[in-house]
Amino acid sequence: MSRWDAREEAGWALDLDELAALLTPRTRLIVVILPHNPTGYIMPAGDFAELLRLAEERGITVVSDEIYAGLAVDPAAELAPAATLSPRAVSLGGLSKSFGLPGLRVGWIATADRALLDRARRVRMHANSFASAPSEYLAAIALRHSAAILARNRGDRARQPCRRRGVHRRPPRPAGVARAVRRRARLPAAAWTRDRR
Ligand SMILES: Cc1ncc(COP(=O)(O)O)c(C=O)c1O
Repeated sequence: MSRWDAREEAGWALDLDELAALLTPRTRLIVVILPHNPTGYIMPAGDFAELLRLAEERGITVVSDEIYAGLAVDPAAELAPAATLSPRAVSLGGLSKSFGLPGLRVGWIATADRALLDRARRVRMHANSFASAPSEYLAAIALRHSAAILARNRGDRARQPCRRRGVHRRPPRPAGVARAVRRRARLPAAAWTRDRR
């Protein structure tokens, strides 16, 4: 495994020439986290396309951890999911970070590579056959209200001067997950009750 370091003096940017120099004929996988944890760095879209092209050319799979997607203070900086840009790329997402709902334990991968998806599904079946149904139920509500939840959590970030450049946000309030979903979506209690049916 080779480390592709982000450098503080470059604003935590990742250098594509450095990546190209790290690749060998035995390289099978490139893993990136964008927005990056903990720096918050988001690669320019042109560089991201170049990274995916570099990988495709060499038959390398890219796993793109997009767990912080949706939290960029400047929404124009958000990248499209890697899985929509390259047939070999795998996008990893979930509700633990941008949505502030780590207790639900709900996440996903997306890829246009069906064979890879089938293999991943088989591995998952052996590791953890099913997600909890209440979690999936609450996750579906959170996803339905994703615009409101992400807008609010982006606002939380922007208001924290010491964290403006980072991606960490306040830990979830000490409340039940259901209450957290309702509050983050700014749903009045009545609408919440209706939604749950
Ligand atoms: C970059 C990144 N991706 C994914 C995860 C996984 O989050 P979880 O297992 O809480 O869903 C973490 C957790 O810290 C993370 O930092």
